[in-house]
Amino acid sequence: MGNRSIDELCEELRAKRTSALAGGGEKAVAKQKEKGKGTARERIAQLLDPGSFVELDEFVTHRCTNFGLEKTKPLGDGVVTGWGTVDGRKVFVFSQDFTVLGGSLGEKHADKICKVLDMAMEMGCPVVGINDSGGARIQEAVDSLNGYGKIFFRNTLSSGVVPQISVIVGPTAGGAVYSPALTDFVFMVEKNGVMHITGPAVIKAVTGEEVTSEELGGAKTHNNKSGNAHFNAKSEQECFDQIRKVLSYLPSNNLDDAPVTETADSVDRADAELRSIVPTNPNKGYDVHEVLKHVLDDGVFTEVQPGWAQNILTGYGRIGGRSVGIIANQAKVMAGCLDIDASDKASRFIRHCDAFNLPIVTFVDVPGYLPGVTQEHGGIIRHGAKLLYAYSEATVPLLTVILRKAYGGAYLAMCGKALGADMVLAWPQAEIAVMGAEGAANIVFKKEIDASSNPGATRLEKIDEYRAAFATPYVAAERGFVDRVILPEETRKALWIALCGLDSKKAGRPNKKHGVIPH
Ligand code: HXC
Repeated sequence: MGNRSIDELCEELRAKRTSALAGGGEKAVAKQKEKGKGTARERIAQLLDPGSFVELDEFVTHRCTNFGLEKTKPLGDGVVTGWGTVDGRKVFVFSQDFTVLGGSLGEKHADKICKVLDMAMEMGCPVVGINDSGGARIQEAVDSLNGYGKIFFRNTLSSGVVPQISVIVGPTAGGAVYSPALTDFVFMVEKNGVMHITGPAVIKAVTGEEVTSEELGGAKTHNNKSGNAHFNAKSEQECFDQIRKVLSYLPSNNLDDAPVTETADSVDRADAELRSIVPTNPNKGYDVHEVLKHVLDDGVFTEVQPGWAQNILTGYGRIGGRSVGIIANQAKVMAGCLDIDASDKASRFIRHCDAFNLPIVTFVDVPGYLPGVTQEHGGIIRHGAKLLYAYSEATVPLLTVILRKAYGGAYLAMCGKALGADMVLAWPQAEIAVMGAEGAANIVFKKEIDASSNPGATRLEKIDEYRAAFATPYVAAERGFVDRVILPEETRKALWIALCGLDSKKAGRPNKKHGVIPH
């Protein structure tokens, strides 16, 4: 070393850097491009603010000597790691490089990922993992499996401490799918992003079923059928734009508050159109997106899992520039009733919002839990219980707006007062009751209806009588289960006032190791 000039030494470093930057080389990069995929570094550049990326461990190599792998020691070992900023806020990132050994995960590849996961926790910053990998590096055998285990362990410890986002832009197979499944959100890109435990060939051999890779585990499948993914993008750029948007609603960690943005949309805005969106006839459907559009800042609702369990909406919005999590029954899909998938979807999002200090606004128009043998045998009892559990456990400000129906157990499950709602607002057409007027009248007035000379007319009369007396917000308001009955156009202002009133909320829960959540 002492005999070499500084210029020679710098040249050596430069050459190493060039080699690391080349990834798997021109041919492998060209193959990647042919599939319409970006390189690991291009993807990081699409995610982060320009010029903000700081790379770590670019010269790490594996130390495997099995199957001749010692002859191929690419710098960086198939994953690019480091940190940068999104809208000026620090974010840690790893991006698997499929052009290097198929992005396969061995010991050192896993160590690089673990390093950024550890740093993200210590610095209190979100972490984004970009997955494009052939899975466990076959030559590294059990070291690869151990590497996955170390990642799963860190994903679990980081859960609820820093936001974790997984991006699926290539194959993710076998146990490799469990790191994304442990993170807050899975973003998938159509065509190239695929996740499955066992691929089409194994499935054909074991069950005889024939299915393509995309049908089995592509973006549409996981966004619309399985519920394993939360965001679907047509291109990698669209995917990274979605991630930047989601991060803008979130604090960097569980001890921070979400950023507050400037807005020109007045919190005093009284939107008269809200009166005409929700029909007073409880049997008529409408799109609850319209309500959100008229209540939230600039009409912007960023939906999470829009394709799955569409009878309930989950997502983010802002009121007066403050981030809130939204849960809303969707009256136009299955009348907005709660079923197994809706309960899973909403309860997980409630826990996400609670972990990251986002107040939750729940818009209620729910006829009840979905009746049916499939639901009962599928475990609606334990799935539905997750909603009760998630709301009861949450200590963030809880705001509930009852738009129309709030019947029975579903009334409670949609953040009823007894579950900890801090502010329950109800519209004048709200019907808060054990069940709908028709069902209730049939039971309560059965004798009168049966004894009547005109049972049909008596039945209608009794339904009206019941509706007038009980299917209103006022019985609940008399008991304090509704805090305020408001005009629809007062909703935005009333929510803003409530958010301001509740922003110093400090709610305790009993000390314990952890609860035993129904699953
Ligand atoms: C080592 C791998 C690899 C792997 C791919 N490569 N997967 N090397 N271990 N797991 C290498 C290939 O040998 C090839 O090297 C290069 O990466 C590119 O792969 P191709 O096959 O040419 O690419 P493509 O045609 O696009 O096919 C992609 C693929 C296929 C579908 C992902 O590579 C594949 O089936 N790989 C194996 C997938 C798998 O069974 N993995 C294990 C899953 S189980 P050269 O030198 O030719 O360029 C698992 C368990 C995790 O991961 C458990 C955690 C608890």
